[in-house]
Amino acid sequence: MKLYETLEQQLKKETNFVTDNGELKKWVVLNKAQNFDEELIGLLLDNADLKEKFFVNVKGTLVFNQNLFVQFLEQKNYLNDSYTKYKNKVGLTIDGKYLKQRNEVALVWPFKDCILEGGQSREEDKREEIFFNEILAQDEITQLLEPKVLTNAKRIDKDGEKPLDQFNRNENGTITDNLIIKGNNLLALHTLKEEFAGKIKLIYIDPPYNTGNDSFGYNDNFNHSTWMTFMKNRLMIAKELLSESGFLFIQINDIESAYLQLLADEIFDRSNFLTSICVKMSHLSGTKMAHKDKKLPKIKEHILMYSKNKLNVNLNPQYIETSWEDAFSRYNSFIVKNGYDDNNCNKWEVITVNEAITRNSIDKSNPKKLNQFLIENASLIFRTARNRSADYSKYPKDLFSKYVKDKNNPQNYHFIYKGEDVSFAEEKIRLIEGKRRPTSIVGDIWTDIGINNLSNEGNVELRFGKKPELLLSRIVSLVTNQNDIVLDYHLGSGTTASVAHKMKRQYIGIEQLDYGDNDSVKRLQNVIQGEQSGVSKAYNWQGGGSFVYLELKKYNQTFIEQIEAAKDTEALLQIWEQMKAKSFLNYNVDIKKQDEHLEEFKALSLAEQKQHLCELLDKNQLYVNLSSLNDTDFACTEEEKKVTKDFYQIN
Ligand SMILES: C[S@@+](CC[C@H](N)C(=O)[O-])C[C@H]1O[C@@H](n2cnc3c(N)ncnc32)[C@H](O)[C@@H]1O
Repeated sequence: MKLYETLEQQLKKETNFVTDNGELKKWVVLNKAQNFDEELIGLLLDNADLKEKFFVNVKGTLVFNQNLFVQFLEQKNYLNDSYTKYKNKVGLTIDGKYLKQRNEVALVWPFKDCILEGGQSREEDKREEIFFNEILAQDEITQLLEPKVLTNAKRIDKDGEKPLDQFNRNENGTITDNLIIKGNNLLALHTLKEEFAGKIKLIYIDPPYNTGNDSFGYNDNFNHSTWMTFMKNRLMIAKELLSESGFLFIQINDIESAYLQLLADEIFDRSNFLTSICVKMSHLSGTKMAHKDKKLPKIKEHILMYSKNKLNVNLNPQYIETSWEDAFSRYNSFIVKNGYDDNNCNKWEVITVNEAITRNSIDKSNPKKLNQFLIENASLIFRTARNRSADYSKYPKDLFSKYVKDKNNPQNYHFIYKGEDVSFAEEKIRLIEGKRRPTSIVGDIWTDIGINNLSNEGNVELRFGKKPELLLSRIVSLVTNQNDIVLDYHLGSGTTASVAHKMKRQYIGIEQLDYGDNDSVKRLQNVIQGEQSGVSKAYNWQGGGSFVYLELKKYNQTFIEQIEAAKDTEALLQIWEQMKAKSFLNYNVDIKKQDEHLEEFKALSLAEQKQHLCELLDKNQLYVNLSSLNDTDFACTEEEKKVTKDFYQIN
């Protein structure tokens, strides 16, 4: 048997390598080979011929000749019909191989292969971040990303808040409660994975823009890398949470937009990039005009839009109100039907719109009356447009004709006039706030959102970055339907959750900071009480509904509380002993050195000693892992155990 037949036969023993049509998934095999996959290598070793061909014996140890294997697999004439991934490609090559195929083109930045916890507990905090290398710090990463214990759970509705009794679930067992989670978003996203993977329809995020003024200011040295790593870690898990027909929207300004797009392309695949929406987010006024001789005043932001899988994209087109002139400047003809129906349309009379206005004695100098006449008669006002793919030559030129494309579907017809397709103004009239109005379809430049009165929306303030409810409602309407799940893991003042609540979508919001009186929780309480700002009127919002508030239980919190309560150095030293024993300290903390300098520690004031110990913990903001729920060291309360078990559905 030829070697490639042997290889094919052997590889097909692994069902994951075979398509539904029984063909070999060559790209999967290639990928596994590139990652020295144990299963693949084991399969090759099981066959004597393959073992001899693709392994070299070095001092008694067999070493996989990855290069040779990949080259062999990539031969053009090998397994031609399974060669689907790279087939018919046009692209740049080196040595006859596509750059992508060689895996030689990638977006790279310092600390790319790291995990960055990235978080603050107070707005003014600046943290020195730890980058956990994905290979070197596997244990730390596994621990960091394990699902977490939940605490402080309460249900909030019209009657106020009460301890959470139980999560509500649908027939598939999925939680149907709206959730607001306080805590680091990376860890919260990983906590949600078990319950919500593949179920989220829309993720909208409005992350820190890395302007130098936001929370990324603390790491000036590698500010850009930090930001990229921060975004990458979160986008990767976000993708897992999206359903196959789901969408991601990321709002961003010029500084990182191009980099973010490349990054998201890499994670979501370039083919899933749908568009970059340009949205007007400020006015040509104020301080931005001060340097108008140096730079163009910034009034736009970008919203990058991705699908999870472009084959499943299904949008609800959006329309905005416009003037009659803008919508219908070319709709100049008017039908006088004289009592004839569609089947007798060849008897219809066609006049100009101006003629119709005159015949109906409409006062043209009265815009209100004129507009009313035009809107009422929109089903008689039309324009024509050439249809290059249809041949209407046999239809009479100066009369209306009815055109049925599919004889099996006679109800589906349109009209032709003068050899062209007829479009009626009626098609662009829609009900807005209960009134018929001319509209145009929303494209990828949004200048109509408006930011006036933004600071009052929801009765909460956010100094930087609060987004208008109208913006969120457009995105939510575009890609979701009632009861779909919407997620925002940079919730800020809660705009996304507030809009989702008013629009009857299920939502999950994650935010690390407690904004006090301006917190998203306060805002949602206002929404439940029926507040009337933002999009309330558009959705006839009357109040009601509920949400569940949760926190990720912090491991360090117990230590911090003990340190704060300690009365003297003796007590602090005992706490230090406990901290050492738990061994959850950051690997940057050298326990031996700390102990060697105990005398210096004792010489500090009590406040300084407390601060020092807290600083050691600050770098290790670990939360309590689900696997430690019953570990007495972590002192989880019965309440926490109950809620956590209910969330993860464990006994
Ligand atoms: C620009 S604001 C979002 C504003 C929001 N769109 C609104 O309309 O109110 C970004 C938010 O992301 C939050 N954030 C940043 N890093 C985070 C992290 N690691 N975990 C959770 N939230 C984070 C910040 O605290 C901030 O509130």
